[in-house]
Amino acid sequence: MKSPITKAILLIGGLGTRLRPLTYQRPKALLPLLNRPLISYEIELFARHGVTDLIMAISYQADEVKAALGDGSRWGVRLHYVEEQEPLGTAGAIKHAAPLIDGPFFACNGDLIYDVDLAAMAQAHLDSSAQVTFCLRRVDDISAYGLIQCDDAGRVVAFREKVGHDETGRNTVNSGFYAINPQVLDAIPQNISYSNETQLFPDLLAQGKPLYGFVPAQEGYWCDVGRIETYMAAHTSLLRSALDWVKPAIGRGSIDRSAQVLQPVDIAGDVTVGAGCRIGPDVAIGAGCCIGDGAVVERSILWSECTVGADAYLSGVILACGAEVAPHSRHTDEVIVPQDA
Ligand code: GTP
Repeated sequence: MKSPITKAILLIGGLGTRLRPLTYQRPKALLPLLNRPLISYEIELFARHGVTDLIMAISYQADEVKAALGDGSRWGVRLHYVEEQEPLGTAGAIKHAAPLIDGPFFACNGDLIYDVDLAAMAQAHLDSSAQVTFCLRRVDDISAYGLIQCDDAGRVVAFREKVGHDETGRNTVNSGFYAINPQVLDAIPQNISYSNETQLFPDLLAQGKPLYGFVPAQEGYWCDVGRIETYMAAHTSLLRSALDWVKPAIGRGSIDRSAQVLQPVDIAGDVTVGAGCRIGPDVAIGAGCCIGDGAVVERSILWSECTVGADAYLSGVILACGAEVAPHSRHTDEVIVPQDA
């Protein structure tokens, strides 16, 4: 079903400090997951629901983002870029995009992979008097998330950060996806750093503005790719079909006939895999990589143009673009960036 709301602001201007050193080389939005940029999973979710105008709120490494994503035509959407000279925070970035807003819109953190019915969420927003509708997830352990408590009619009564217990028993947490009315923009100060989670939303609640929670009928896959561990977890889940529209593939390259490939793997084009290698399970390899004879690569992410020496062993490893691994070396649960990065 198509969403009656057709505009979204995707927040992708943060520094991504918890993913350093990877985010020194590439902004978080462009981290490869199955050889596609992280942000492409949200772009595709919006495109699938007919949300065709996506405002990319960029700041850190803005030029790299624009160059990589282009005008959006490859996903059948229009990408518009709004750039903050310095990151203005999650609410400040929305305010900065205000000139492009002319009606209710979606907003979301740009580091999420989520499978949710946006059409149902948009309809729920428009059918209620909500100024903001929060897409909520039910989780067993709420302690790592922002708890959003609602009354029986779904109206938000409290925001509580990272508490251990929800006395209402509903355990509904913020998913990072919102539907917002344009009037909310008036509540955000101009040109100063301002946060959705700690300032704007609690301010609106304190002012008695109607805020509602939306709990999707079906729990879809959700992952916040904010840390190395969750980046790895998303990689494994996507390879193992967490999203039914994403299928791992093996591109045209040169894989020696004696090499063993254990699915699931996603291998880009122009990759060389030498004799006697074992690749997989749970491996993604970027374009232009070269894996030497006898090497073993499992549960790992290789960005493009990496070199793995003969008989090396990699498990739980992330290699940033251009990284090199010495022959016969062993690496477990490491992030490796090129020497000159
Ligand atoms: P850390 O530094 O590791 O916390 O990462 P981050 O900078 O991405 O911050 P966080 O994970 O809290 O941000 C959630 C989402 O909001 C990410 O997609 C960020 O890119 C985005 N975001 C955070 N701050 C800003 C900002 O000031 N401007 C814009 N445009 N986006 C932001």
